[in-house]
Amino acid sequence: MNQPWLLKAENISKSFPGVKALDKVNLTIEGGKVHTIIGENGAGKSTLMKILMGILLPDEGEILYKGVKVKLMSVQEAIKTGISMIHQELLPFPELSIAENIFMGNEPTSRIPGWINKREMNKNAALLMNKLGAKVDVTRAMKELSIAEMQMVEIAKAISNQSEVIIMDEPTSALSNREIAILFSIIEELKQQGIAIIYISHKMDEIFKISDTITVMRDGKHITTCAINAIDQKKLISLIVGREINSIFDKKENTPGEVILSVTELTGEKFKDINFNLRRGEILGIAGLMGSGRTEIVNSIYGLEKIVKGDIFINGKKVKIRSPKDAIKNSIGLVSEDRKKYGLVLGSSVKHNISLSSLEKCKNGLFLNLKEENEIANAQINKLNIKTSSSDQLANYLSGGNQQKIVIAKVLLNDADIIIFDEPTRGIDIGAKSEIYKLMTQLATEGKALIVISSELPEILGLSDRILIIREGEIKAELSQAEATQELIMKHAMA
Ligand SMILES: Nc1ncnc2c1ncn2[C@@H]1O[C@H](COP(=O)(O)OP(=O)(O)OP(=O)(O)O)[C@@H](O)[C@H]1O
Ligand SMILES: [Mg+2]
Repeated sequence: MNQPWLLKAENISKSFPGVKALDKVNLTIEGGKVHTIIGENGAGKSTLMKILMGILLPDEGEILYKGVKVKLMSVQEAIKTGISMIHQELLPFPELSIAENIFMGNEPTSRIPGWINKREMNKNAALLMNKLGAKVDVTRAMKELSIAEMQMVEIAKAISNQSEVIIMDEPTSALSNREIAILFSIIEELKQQGIAIIYISHKMDEIFKISDTITVMRDGKHITTCAINAIDQKKLISLIVGREINSIFDKKENTPGEVILSVTELTGEKFKDINFNLRRGEILGIAGLMGSGRTEIVNSIYGLEKIVKGDIFINGKKVKIRSPKDAIKNSIGLVSEDRKKYGLVLGSSVKHNISLSSLEKCKNGLFLNLKEENEIANAQINKLNIKTSSSDQLANYLSGGNQQKIVIAKVLLNDADIIIFDEPTRGIDIGAKSEIYKLMTQLATEGKALIVISSELPEILGLSDRILIIREGEIKAELSQAEATQELIMKHAMA
């Protein structure tokens, strides 16, 4: 049966200074389906969603809702029309309670005009959250919640607003596997009720699992729309990047060299008795569930986390690492999972962000050599294919995936011998992923030693020579590349 369409975007264009983010894009959204939008970083996905959500106005084009032309001048208008968006990065009212956030602007009134019936509001909020399988105290403040719980609140809000179209822009990027499973069952439930989900993600396995329809965008243009079962992964990738990619992972057999890093009995607040060696030319994978202590272990090696006990040796020599400065001095680099906190200055230019930690390289005596800074930045922009209107653009205006590439560029410039990548490809498109994998493999071939943390098992399996599996802050297993499988890793990670 053909579902009637709910939402149509026709010939939508949008330009920012120096970029045409959307170029006559068409999109038709049907009820009861998950419609995935996929495309490289900077393809225009989020911009299109912001237009459908009344956050941005299109330069041209029209939006129709159930056959009627609508002008979405504000978020309130989009919500009134029937469209909601699950925000991921911004939390709307952190100080207010869950219930207050759900019913913001839509509060049940009491008999006295202008007064909110709090009891009624809390009761309804609890009902909604329960229906979503989240048993939380709805009087808790938003700011105390995990990202997964905040998303639940946003979904509850969308349901209470009776939205028929719900936009989810990379909703799983900070969720654990268990939380993703819950989200997917909620999406199924929403579909049953005829609600349309517009879904954005860069994770291939997830897309094939959850989508009914898929639209590919490239360089601000609509490339194709088809049923998910009418396309395979290889074809999809070639449509996304506009060329064939033969193999995403290009792992060669290599013989690791001498041990460059060893940690013995390393113990911190969230991990204990960690022992391992890392050799030149080696890529060591660290797997484990979110919250298992993976990040804390590598952060401690980089001087971001306190070490309670144990030692770190570099080239056989015991070293004390108390800060990232110490780590950099010892030739350790970190691509952090939290780019906003440790990697990126959003209010600075792309150029400045890239050269920030390697300013020494651009210094002429005491002065910054601006020409050199430019050259260094442009070389990285080309190498990692960072999509920006110029190297003077503020990092804030780049798409999520392109911000992540800046963080990687910055660390690469430091030329460290030991490079730690914590969730390096989060939010990164498939074409750029394959570039980054190539780069990592090449770094190992050049004799660098790499540590990779990733929640995406294909990534860990495709890259690592050896995999450590962390559970509850301890190494529970070590697997060689030959013996490792997704099942085996999950078994040790969850047992
Ligand atoms: N406010 C803005 N000012 C200037 N340029 C912008 C602004 N917002 C987006 N852009 C640019 O528009 C283009 C499309 O960005 P958009 O965020 O829509 O990409 P995306 O497809 O969501 O990418 P990603 O997968 O990385 O999230 C990019 O080149 C981006 O730098
Ligand atoms: Mg985006």
